[in-house]
Amino acid sequence: MRFVDIIEKKRWGGELTQEEIQWWITQYVSGNIPDYQVSALLMAITLKGMSVRETQLLTMAMLHSGEVMDLSGIDGITVDKHSTGGVGDKTTLVLGPMLAACGVKVAKMSGRGLGATGGTLDKLESIRGFDCYLEKDKFMKQVKDIGIAIVGQTKDLVPADKKLYALRDVTGTVISVPLIASSVMSKKLAAGAQIIELDVKCGDGAFMKTPEDAEILADMMIRLGKACGKKVSAMITDMNEPLGMAIGNMLEVKEAVETLRGRGPKDLTELVLTGGASILVNADIALDMDDGRRKMSEVIADGTAFEKFKAMVKAQNGDVAQIENLDMFPEASFITPVKSEKTGFVCAERAWELGRLAMEIGAGRADKEDVIEPEVGIVLEKKTGDFVEKGDVLAWVHHNRPLENGWKERMYAAFDIKDERVSGKQLIYKIM
Ligand code: URA
Repeated sequence: MRFVDIIEKKRWGGELTQEEIQWWITQYVSGNIPDYQVSALLMAITLKGMSVRETQLLTMAMLHSGEVMDLSGIDGITVDKHSTGGVGDKTTLVLGPMLAACGVKVAKMSGRGLGATGGTLDKLESIRGFDCYLEKDKFMKQVKDIGIAIVGQTKDLVPADKKLYALRDVTGTVISVPLIASSVMSKKLAAGAQIIELDVKCGDGAFMKTPEDAEILADMMIRLGKACGKKVSAMITDMNEPLGMAIGNMLEVKEAVETLRGRGPKDLTELVLTGGASILVNADIALDMDDGRRKMSEVIADGTAFEKFKAMVKAQNGDVAQIENLDMFPEASFITPVKSEKTGFVCAERAWELGRLAMEIGAGRADKEDVIEPEVGIVLEKKTGDFVEKGDVLAWVHHNRPLENGWKERMYAAFDIKDERVSGKQLIYKIM
């Protein structure tokens, strides 16, 4: 087989066979096909697309490029969740413990942040001592004993995705629906849980810009999961503005803890109640979505979800005292307000730009090797739809170094303040 023939076939919009896809992935992971040829194929796929069958074949080839976790030794129903990425998205930190408190087993492998979006591992590591890298036996034991572990993905899980994603990142081919679907689902299937919940973001701060595009991606991912015997549900949710008020690792952990204690922002709370209810219905623990929401609300109200979070932090060597007393987290050197220059309504709050601005002051990584400053970030004071008077604080910037020239102006420009209130703000567009 010649790889150039596969590239040319896709260039003309042809459908790749199982043999061709399997050969591509095996040879690429073994280092026998150069990046420049795979880049050409990725671009051809981005422009010409892939059929459902091709996407399934690609997902299976990627899934079997490495280790597949066997969670069958864990009694009970294993669940996993995935968000396609967003600014201020700390859902896993809240939803995971709530689900564990409801009796399902949360065996979660997470990633690090890159660019404008954050990563769950970086957030957890802002808790003093927290260990994201557990041996497999310890990971399994923790899930069995306390119902939840959140760890870093092992390097043996879907090595094909690691190589392909790095290449997609620098070749403008992240955006392709079949490539995103196969990337996400190969990892979810390799992680081994029986139930998978997908949070597919859309809007300014997401890969998918409209709810319609997000639905196409969600539909594809649901098909891929169901074809492998998994129960998969999805929510299409808004990422035009950040989720919650906090952007930045330690700030997001604090917000997650407040949410677990029933004092979280409305949008984050709503998202975890709905996402959790959907999982509990799939797990046959809740009769319907209303029952699921009730059960999820109960574990916040009675404190059991917060206790699960503390148990996980303790099991993973984190400092529980910090979680019990949020004042024990260190503060950034400066906390600077960004104030409104006019009176009106916040009509937009550009998630992507706010994520980039937070990254630039140290809350995220522009390159994989960059070091994060955990206490740095942005805490919003106002969200889309809020009324502001001239001089009101829109957000607080937590930073360790002086802000660069023009940074504060860009931060202010990320807010769109108009005379009329924006209508039709929606958090959850669809549950599938
Ligand atoms: N997240 C992933 O894991 N893969 C993609 O391709 C996009 C988002």
